[in-house]
Formats: sequence, C-alpha cells, structure tokens
Amino acid sequence: MSLRLKILELAKKYQEEMVETRRYLHQHPEVSYKEFETTKFIKTKLDELGIPHESPLETGCIGVLQGRIKSDRVIALRADIDALPMDEEGEAKKEFFSKNPGAAHCCGHDAHTSNLLGVARILTDLKEELEGTILLVFQPGEEKLPGGGKLLCDTGFLQSRNVDAIYGLHTSPSHSPGTIATKEGPLMGSPDEFEIEIFGKGGHAARPHEAIDPIVLASQFVSSAQTIVSRSVDPTEPAVVTVGRIEGGTAHNVIPGSVKLWGTVRTLNSETADLIASRLEYIVKGITDGAGGAYSFTFNKGYPAVNNTPEETEHVVREMQELFGEETALIMERPIMAGEDFSFYQEHFPGAFFFVGSGSDDSESTYVWHHPKYNVDDRFFQTAAPLMASLALRKD
Ligand code: NI
Repeated sequence: MSLRLKILELAKKYQEEMVETRRYLHQHPEVSYKEFETTKFIKTKLDELGIPHESPLETGCIGVLQGRIKSDRVIALRADIDALPMDEEGEAKKEFFSKNPGAAHCCGHDAHTSNLLGVARILTDLKEELEGTILLVFQPGEEKLPGGGKLLCDTGFLQSRNVDAIYGLHTSPSHSPGTIATKEGPLMGSPDEFEIEIFGKGGHAARPHEAIDPIVLASQFVSSAQTIVSRSVDPTEPAVVTVGRIEGGTAHNVIPGSVKLWGTVRTLNSETADLIASRLEYIVKGITDGAGGAYSFTFNKGYPAVNNTPEETEHVVREMQELFGEETALIMERPIMAGEDFSFYQEHFPGAFFFVGSGSDDSESTYVWHHPKYNVDDRFFQTAAPLMASLALRKD
C-alpha cells in the first residue's frame, strides 16, 4: 500500500478521536497565554504516544517526533491552541458549549490542536517510514499581541533545531470540507493597532464657544483618516484603516474634556504601515492644533504579513492534489487582510500557511471567524490530518 493510502486509512481510523478531542477542548477553552489546562491535556496525549516534548514557553509545548530513518531533515507542523475572550452561541454546537464563561473557541484553534494531535498519532503509526525529525508545535497566544509565534521565535528553540520548513493551517468557514485554499507570496495582512486620545476643553453644551469640543475633533479625525488609503497609499497597494471604537462624553448636554479612539491598520508590508502611521498622526495633530486642543497617539505594530515561500506552497498544493484530486486545491487570487502570527516563523524558515475548508450549512459552520456561532464541520479533519501528515512525511 502506498504511503498516501496508509495516511488516508489512518486518518479515517482516528476521525472519531479527533472529533471527540476537539469537542473536549471546545468545552474547556482558555484565552491567550493562559492555556495551562490545554497544555497539560496536550502533554498527556503526547506522553500516551511516547512523544517527548519541550516547553520553551510557559504555555504550549513542542512534541519532538523522531523518525526511524536517519536524516538531518527537520519539518515543523504548527497548531495554535488559544481561545477568544468571548461567549458563544449557536444550536449546532450546543451540546459541547464552553464551560468557561468569557472564553470560547470561536476561531477553530480547538480543531487545529485536535488535528495536530491526530497527525501525531498517524505519524507515530508510520514511524518506520518517517525520515528525520518532526516538530509538533502547539503554540499559545495567537490571538493576542505580541503573538505566541513571536515569543517562541524569540526563545531560539526552533532556530537551534535547524528547521527546514514549517507548515500551518487554519479552518476556513468560506470553503467547503474537502478543499484547501492558499497562494504563494503574501497570503494574509499585517494587523497593527492604534490608540488616540483627543483632549479638548469640557463645558456646557449650550456654550460651545467657551469649550473645545473633542467630539467634533474626533469626528473630523475619523472622516479625514479615510483619505489616507484613498489619497496617500499607492492605489495598487492593499490597505485598510478602520476606527473600531470611540469613547467620549457622559450626557447629551455636556461637552466632554476628551475622547478616545481605537483602530486597526491592515497592510501587506511594513513600509505601507509606517506611512499610514505617520499620516494618522499628522492628521490628528493638524486637527487638534487647529482647534487649540491636544492629543496622544500610540501605534502598536502587530504581526508581519503571512508570506508563503514558493517551494513549500507548491508542496502543499501538490500533496493535496495527490491525496484528493486536482480540483481540491484552490489557488487564491489575492490575499485576505486578517492577520496571523504564523508570519513570525516565516521570518526564519521557509514555510507555507493554508486554509482548510470547514464550512457547511448542515453543521452551521459558515459563520465568519470570531463570530459567536462560529463552528467547524467535523469533515475538516479528513482533509487537514492527512494533508499535514503527508507534508511531514515526504518531500518529493
Ligand atoms: Ni485563528
């Protein structure tokens, strides 16, 4: 039997287990950097398989699976393990709702974790045919800056293991089970955050001439900020500026002393992000100076853009096609602007990130990431597990 057929058989054999593990993790979500019980659970599973593990960070861990065939080849497979600070909803997943109030797996990281544990099981069964070392990277804190991927790279653990290539995946509610989507080059945006406080002068709503109204200044700022993408950024360069939150004022008849604004900037390269950051500050400075107010401005650089190397992307697409047929691998025409801290690994190693279809109407799993009703179709594992296992096993 060919190795690919064996992988497919084993993935079927462990389907039930992967589904159960995901439901268990779904019921016990933990937010970024607090994944203590999740980490314990993963380590117990790795212990059962006899896979040694290392803990370069406080949460998360790295399983070190040694193949029987001696080789210097080191392949890393990464799954993020954290949940979001939110509550969930939805009929389809009611029986395995989160038991931890204020935390929920609404981005599918429970499925990523369970999938990588399934891959660990498949690869352990195929140890005789496994070459070199496979690092099973269970990464904490994907959802929160500075990013578990960054913290892990900062420890130098993976660099010291001379990783040849790294692969990561994400559930995709907009693709059907049985398909994947990816592309070479920029795949996902770089999400940066800004925080602004506009200081005016409080007063009576009926005596605005004696006040400096920060609500008017904030409104001017929000409108003017929309000209950055249309007037300052190269029109062929994708960019987003969104103000997502404004806070100011206490009553209909009081001019407040200050207003706070929070927003996000999405780009595909750091030069564009720098340009937008400086334009944002110019605009808030111009508006507040003109009115005699003042401001504070902070810009937090988030994750770099996910940028897939050609060889590894081709490897993902080819393996998918070998396993499931030509038409199952979709090559995306353009990147999406959501962020992902997988990009930090790609600053050190060749690597590819891809989306695995997890959305269907019958499992109510077409809600967008971070939606309270977000769910994953169980058939996700029948693509994700064999593909990941096969990426680790062969490099034609
Ligand atoms: Ni996610």
